Amino acid sequence: MTRAFDPYALLRPLIFRMNPETAHTVAFRLGGVAQRVPGVLSLARAMCGAPDPGLARDVLGLKFPSPVGLAAGLDKGAELLPLWKALGFGFVEIGTVTPRPQAGNPKPRIFRFPEENLILNRMGFNSEGVDVVARRLKNRPKGLIVGGNIGKNKETAEEDALADYAAAFRAVAPLVDYVALNISSPNTPGLRRLQAPEALKPLLEGILALRKEMGLENQPILVKLAPDLGPEELDATVDAVVESGVSGLIATNTTLDRNIVSEMNRGKVEALGMGGLSGRGLKIKAREIHRRVLKRLPREIKLMACGGIGSGEDAAVALQDGAALVQIYSSLIFEGPMLVGRMNRDLAERTYYTN
Ligand SMILES: Cc1cc2nc3c(=O)[nH]c(=O)nc-3n(C[C@H](O)[C@H](O)[C@H](O)COP(=O)(O)O)c2cc1C
Repeated sequence: MTRAFDPYALLRPLIFRMNPETAHTVAFRLGGVAQRVPGVLSLARAMCGAPDPGLARDVLGLKFPSPVGLAAGLDKGAELLPLWKALGFGFVEIGTVTPRPQAGNPKPRIFRFPEENLILNRMGFNSEGVDVVARRLKNRPKGLIVGGNIGKNKETAEEDALADYAAAFRAVAPLVDYVALNISSPNTPGLRRLQAPEALKPLLEGILALRKEMGLENQPILVKLAPDLGPEELDATVDAVVESGVSGLIATNTTLDRNIVSEMNRGKVEALGMGGLSGRGLKIKAREIHRRVLKRLPREIKLMACGGIGSGEDAAVALQDGAALVQIYSSLIFEGPMLVGRMNRDLAERTYYTN
């Protein structure tokens, strides 16, 4: 595969000298301005390349131009949708959005380990809230599939979680192509307990009833899971999801497992305290989850595979395992925006990749 000139390779040392959250803020400011300057999006499209038509997939009643999507958490507020589209993403999951605005955890709360393409984060759902994000979604670009990932506010008690998910669903669902229920962030205390079938069943029943009430029966709902469930817990959660009648699963979110960190960095990661890990080291663990989940899922319930995916080959492996689509986050930080085009081209060149 030929490699096009990639300016990120030159900028990366500079970007990585900045504090990660400052780099994020600067990138979003620049991106926000750039996507409004005439010609910038066409240039980005020309440099990255549109997905090969052979990559298109019909999943969940939607036509995805590529199976490679942006995972939740990077564009929480739906600020850069035109840019993501120009980079070649087949879809973008915005959020997590909480019903009311909240600041998230105190900074610093993101840490990178470039030697092993690993990120530790404890953002804690910093969110502008559904009203602001819904206003932006009203002007979303045409021709890009957008998922809305929703969560609960920190101060909302676990037993009142349904009210928060319902409020966020009401505001976001009519403006997106699918909704993801995030019950797996490790950075909102107690959130992951919603994965237990006793808590999950009433939550899903409530959201499905609301979807019906809103006349959105055809809109896919997916549930995003953590990679830290034990095998039996995972099976029970998957069974509860399947029985509920939602359309699919997204797996996985970040992990609490410090064993995925190299010995060189483990002490440093432990000293940094709480947070979820993502990136290359998560790949093996996430793949085990994908394979276990796929064994239990009926064909019509779809899996979006996420966790450590960073190349066309990684994406192809997940798709061959049976995932319908893949999502990336950390690898984009380490490899830069042109990764998406490279993954699309690599996937399109693979003869064993079947639609
Ligand atoms: C800084 C950061 C913030 C994230 N925020 C969210 C979030 O708000 N909601 C969510 O569902 N996942 C969030 N994630 C998890 C990612 O969507 C993804 O599931 C995880 O990073 C594993 O994929 P990766 O190895 O490709 O990064 C976040 C990840 C990172 C690194």
